[in-house]
Amino acid sequence: MEPGEGSPQQIRQALLFFVFLGGSLVCSETWRYSVAEETEIGSFIGNVVKDIGLGVEDLAARGARVISDDYKPYLQLDRQTGNLILNEKLDREALCDLTEPCILNFQILFENPLQFFRAELRVKDINDHTPTFLDKHILLKISESTTRGTSFQMDSAQDLDVGKNAVQNYTLSPNPHFHLKLQDSEEGGKYAELLLDQALDREKEPELRLTLTALDGGYPPRSATALVRVLVSDINDNAPEFERSVYEVLVPENSPLDSLVVKVSAIDLDAGLNGELSYSFSHVSRDIRKTFEIHPISGEVRLKALLDFELIKSYTINIQAIDGGSLSGKSAILVSVADVNDNPPEIVITSLTSPIPENSSPEMVVAVFSLRDQDSGDNGRMVCSIQDNLPFLLKPTFKNFYTLVTESPLDRETRAEYNVTITVTDLGTPRLKTEHNITVLVSDVNDNAPAFTQTSYTLSVRENNSPALHIGSVRATDRDAGANAQVTYSLLPPLDPHVPLASLVSINPDNGHLFALRSLDYEALRAFEFRVGAADRGSPALSSQALVRVLVADDNDNAPFVLYPLQNASAPCTELVPRAAEAGYLVTKVVAVDGDSGQNAWLSYQLLKATEPGLFGVWAHNGEVRTARLLSERDAAKHRLLVLVKDNGEPPLSASVTLHVLLVDGFSQPYLPAPEAEAADAAPAAPLTVYLVVALASVSSLFVFSVLVFVAVRLCRRGGAASVGRCSVPEGPFPGHLVDFSSTGTLSQSYQYEVCLKGGSGTSEFNFLKSVASNHQESVNDVEENSNFINGFGFN
Ligand SMILES: *[C@@H]1O[C@H](CO)[C@@H](O)[C@H](O)[C@H]1NC(C)=O
Ligand SMILES: *[C@@H]1O[C@H](CO)[C@@H](O)[C@H](O)[C@H]1NC(C)=O
Ligand SMILES: *[C@@H]1O[C@H](CO)[C@@H](O)[C@H](O)[C@H]1NC(C)=O
Repeated sequence: MEPGEGSPQQIRQALLFFVFLGGSLVCSETWRYSVAEETEIGSFIGNVVKDIGLGVEDLAARGARVISDDYKPYLQLDRQTGNLILNEKLDREALCDLTEPCILNFQILFENPLQFFRAELRVKDINDHTPTFLDKHILLKISESTTRGTSFQMDSAQDLDVGKNAVQNYTLSPNPHFHLKLQDSEEGGKYAELLLDQALDREKEPELRLTLTALDGGYPPRSATALVRVLVSDINDNAPEFERSVYEVLVPENSPLDSLVVKVSAIDLDAGLNGELSYSFSHVSRDIRKTFEIHPISGEVRLKALLDFELIKSYTINIQAIDGGSLSGKSAILVSVADVNDNPPEIVITSLTSPIPENSSPEMVVAVFSLRDQDSGDNGRMVCSIQDNLPFLLKPTFKNFYTLVTESPLDRETRAEYNVTITVTDLGTPRLKTEHNITVLVSDVNDNAPAFTQTSYTLSVRENNSPALHIGSVRATDRDAGANAQVTYSLLPPLDPHVPLASLVSINPDNGHLFALRSLDYEALRAFEFRVGAADRGSPALSSQALVRVLVADDNDNAPFVLYPLQNASAPCTELVPRAAEAGYLVTKVVAVDGDSGQNAWLSYQLLKATEPGLFGVWAHNGEVRTARLLSERDAAKHRLLVLVKDNGEPPLSASVTLHVLLVDGFSQPYLPAPEAEAADAAPAAPLTVYLVVALASVSSLFVFSVLVFVAVRLCRRGGAASVGRCSVPEGPFPGHLVDFSSTGTLSQSYQYEVCLKGGSGTSEFNFLKSVASNHQESVNDVEENSNFINGFGFN
């Protein structure tokens, strides 16, 4: 129990004063009690007996009671002790709400005698309530431009308690921006204001979360918290800023249109419109505007036109970004155009000398040319070459000038034209190549003499040709060109001045055709040779010569000529044959020659007619006339034989000869038989009056024939003989004729004949032939040693 505010003694004196003045029923004195709210039921409040000054017995006797003003039985009086006991728990806030002090008035009533005593119960507050914020989330929107010192009022927290148990204090979670300032409210409460200490920066801290705590004054204090969200609202206090102060990009010059050059980007820390950026070029040249475009939103810079390193190698593009509040930031793009190998090398021929004379000294300048490549770096570095295996060299001269020079003297006859391909390649990637073809012609110098197709020509001209007959050609070629290759033919003076060449042949100077000037006679001139010349028309002219050998081919233009027996009737020969001769006895031998040669001179013999057929036979190949059987007495004494001599020409020519044969009895005229018959015929040699010795030599060699006819005539005249034959032979060589004694001819062997000419009878008759030893070899050798023999050999 707590004592009243004033001392009970003083209060009692005042009431007593009131009772004396006002009446006796109601004591003017008021007794005061107090109790803390929420005190337990049955708690002692005070003792009426002591306070009023009555005896305990009075209470029951006088029927004392406690009556509250609102008739609620808060209190109960113990009549035995006079104690006032709390009858229910009191809630100050329910009883009085905000009224303070909270007083419950009651009376202590005595019925007999009726008497009232006034009393009051003060219900004292205890801190049984916690402050509360009506809104636990407090949202504050504060511009970042708000100046320091600005205050923001906070809703106050409520507390049902009163007095010092009510809200007494507010605190704020520590933060750099705000502090709390407590203010007294008109209702006597307190509220808090947020005071801005330090400027807000939305870009740094767009939102602050603070905890506001309300504290009451109880012990211990109770508290409540509210969350204060401070949203910092933006002002355009930031200019856009590009990520880089300079963008450096390398763009290949062959980038296609619309290709991305770079994507620029600026940052604006502000929000909303203040942070919305638009990109653009700033103070740029027309070239740049023509070539590039920038997307205002994305910041992508793209190509609007093609780049060309060779024209512009770099661009500096000033760019800006402007935000919604018109603040701007600047940067620049440095565009370097990367060279791409898009230009092939170029070749410019400055001079070209063509044709160039052959045999000119080396290092002669054929062409001068220059190279150019519009690319740069490796793309513009060039390598220059020509084909291998050409007799030319490339020589770098001044700067990018080159010369094409000859490596060695040229020979037009080997090659008259060169296609030189100058190839220039740059070192770029990919490599670009340019070719230039030049044709170098080599002009002729007269450095080649005409050359005959053969060193010597042999022509097979038939004799008896018509004059002016084309007998053959010589040809010479000249490897030079033009007049240097124009060949003129001529006959060169004969080595042997005696050969009448000019009357034999002529030559066409233009084509080398050779013509016989007259009819040739094999028998007179079998072969001859001469030199022809060929000269070109160069200056000086060059010439050469060749040997022409003309072989005259034989025609069968000579009939066989019978040497023996002679046919002139003045002295016909009569052959004597003994009747005792055996079969095969050699009667005589027809000797014939043919002026032709070869087959035309092959002679065959044939018995054409005979007085008595079957008695004599003629050997076809050698003209020997022999008996065919034994002779008898019945055979006539005189016989005539007609022998035909025929050559093998085409057509054949022939001659005939008549032989006279006389059979003689018992008398065998000695004679020299043919060698093969000598053994059989052992008859001794008879004295012959005439020997005709014909020494025939033949030699077969290339185009050379030699004939020696040596005729020795010994005339032996048989004096006193019964019948004398007389023969004559031609005197001297046969006119105009050569005798072919080649190995294929009839007279292939050499013979010497002795011909006996029987004389004295008036009729010339040969009566025998004699073969003598051959000795012609020396003569043949003599012939061969004389190389000019043929040329010089001529009859007539
Ligand atoms: C409020 O509370 C704070 C922290 O507890 C204290 O420093 C301050 O003095 C109090 N203010 C009042 C008026 O009691
Ligand atoms: C050179 O080129 C020309 C033209 O292409 C051609 O007619 C000629 O035959 C060529 N000459 C050589 C030697 O290749
Ligand atoms: C140069 O000549 C070569 C070989 O004949 C040929 O293949 C090439 O096409 C020619 N080039 C030019 C540019 O005429």
